[in-house]
Amino acid sequence: MAPSHDFSSPAPTDLRAPCPGLNALANHSYISHDGANITFLQLLEATKFVYNLSTPLALLLTMAGFATCGKFGWSTFFNSSGVVQWPISWTLNLADLAQRGSTKIAHDASFVHASGVESHAADPALVKSLLLVAEAQGGMTLESFARVHAERIRELGHGLGWLHEQVAAGEGAVAWLVMHNPQTGVVEPEKVKIWFGEEKLPKGWWDGVRPTRVIGLLQAKQTANEFEAVVKGIFVRQDGNCHQTTATRVRLDVFRLPGRSGTQARIQSIQLA
Ligand code: HEM
Repeated sequence: MAPSHDFSSPAPTDLRAPCPGLNALANHSYISHDGANITFLQLLEATKFVYNLSTPLALLLTMAGFATCGKFGWSTFFNSSGVVQWPISWTLNLADLAQRGSTKIAHDASFVHASGVESHAADPALVKSLLLVAEAQGGMTLESFARVHAERIRELGHGLGWLHEQVAAGEGAVAWLVMHNPQTGVVEPEKVKIWFGEEKLPKGWWDGVRPTRVIGLLQAKQTANEFEAVVKGIFVRQDGNCHQTTATRVRLDVFRLPGRSGTQARIQSIQLA
């Protein structure tokens, strides 16, 4: 029988990641509910199907997870019933995505996960503070997400390093692309509460709330660049550390200069300040 995709809370033994996107997939059984031994194809197909990601974008995210935290398994050529099977498996446990280190995905200054520790669930205080921002602003724009991330870096007292900066920008971008309302450009407070906080798919997901247009890799990269430009407009990197600047407005105006490649214009604006 096909699994029901109604929400069901994780059991105490179920494995979960520091990712609201993947935990919601497991909580709705689009990937195994126990969060264990997920195959590459299962994760690829689920991210495409549920969040309407393009194949290249879903491939990039899935590959990042498997390359950094996947595990290989070896078995015999025949299973217990004597049927021939491929003896090598490559699977992912959601909990392994919480592993920390410069070559892992998990990083500090997350929206709703504590810094410095392996995290498998959203931190209620951080969810509350994200929700307060969303409510005060009538929803989260891409810039609001970037500003929350910048604030978390300020609290941390140091920068993230190049790789984790890219990862954080990618997460902010994909979250906004998938969850924002195209009519208003914002992620409504209700979605922040339900998806980030409770790791459920927002209400009405399959009745028009899910993105109607496929979200592509280039679109995600462009959006991540915009996220990063806002963060870097708030911080200047010097000697590997981040220092706060007051020139945010100038920088944001500069990156909208017409007739230039957006990314180059943004990087120039940071160096000039
Ligand atoms: C398909 C493979 C994916 C993998 C392997 C993955 C992995 C991760 C990991 C390891 C983190 C933790 C980073 C941290 O320490 O903050 C994370 C965070 C996050 N992921 Fe995913 N993710 C995937 C897909 C998605 C999708 C499809 C979405 C959106 C629909 C998403 C949205 C997010 C967001 C918003 C965060 C940040 C959470 C926070 O800052 O508190 N992810 N992801």
